[in-house]
Amino acid sequence: MTPTAELLAIALKAAEAAARVHLLYRGRVGVRDAVQKGPSDFVSFVDTEAEKAALDVIRERFPEHAILAEESPMSAGSSPSGAVRAGGPLWIVDPLDGTTNYLHGHPMYSASVGVAIGGEPTVGAIVASETEDRWWAEKGAGAYRNGERIHTSSVRNMAEALVGTGFPFRRPEELPRYLEEFRRVFGACSGIRRGGSAALDFCYLAQGSLDAFWEGNLAPWDVAAGRVILAEAGGAASRRDGSPIETAEDGSVVAANSAELLEAVRMVLGP
Ligand code: IPD
Ligand code: CA
Ligand code: CA
Repeated sequence: MTPTAELLAIALKAAEAAARVHLLYRGRVGVRDAVQKGPSDFVSFVDTEAEKAALDVIRERFPEHAILAEESPMSAGSSPSGAVRAGGPLWIVDPLDGTTNYLHGHPMYSASVGVAIGGEPTVGAIVASETEDRWWAEKGAGAYRNGERIHTSSVRNMAEALVGTGFPFRRPEELPRYLEEFRRVFGACSGIRRGGSAALDFCYLAQGSLDAFWEGNLAPWDVAAGRVILAEAGGAASRRDGSPIETAEDGSVVAANSAELLEAVRMVLGP
């Protein structure tokens, strides 16, 4: 097994461990059992328990690796920026992506585990607990869903594109800007979908079920695994201004089945 193949095996094992925690409490934990990190931004013990399950798997095999995990970014016992500077691996974990869906019994939620080496996205594993679908990719080795190679769709013009998005629920002050973007994209494409798990949006894009995607404010753990899977399936992603995802602070993400459609979406979104 190559070193990155081993990282991928552990990433999948960690995502599966988190997914088992999702299933354990599914339907028994609701919004009233959760606390709010901010307006409409919930976290429950399922998020933290799933994170522990995933981190246990990673630490057992790679105790010295740096980890950036959503529910314990400061207590990971490691320095993410130090790992990037040293060119080492950084594990990036979203233990439950789609918490709001999960708390309402909506099936679109997932566990997402990515690894970047020296800042370069290298491995991604995402497990949709409810359907037991698994997507994974290793840089240079293609993207897979349940063992089958996947590719992005061949749609290249906006008029035919089905576009995923995410709402700015954490930043209501950005709603006017978002609604203007929505109006522009809605007028240019064949449909818009809001799934509620950015990690799954990337998987759907990678397998050709969506053609493009945009959202204003995503965290590193929302996209760390998905962007590897998307890139290996033939897609492309950037910030709204076209810069690489790493270089801007705003958290905006535009993604598409190809560099060509990515450019078209960026043009429609405007500056
Ligand atoms: C959220 C989901 C959602 C996206 C939010 C994310 P969480 O992740 O990915 O689709 O719109 O921006 O924060 O909070 O459920 O892990
Ligand atoms: Ca998330
Ligand atoms: Ca989460």
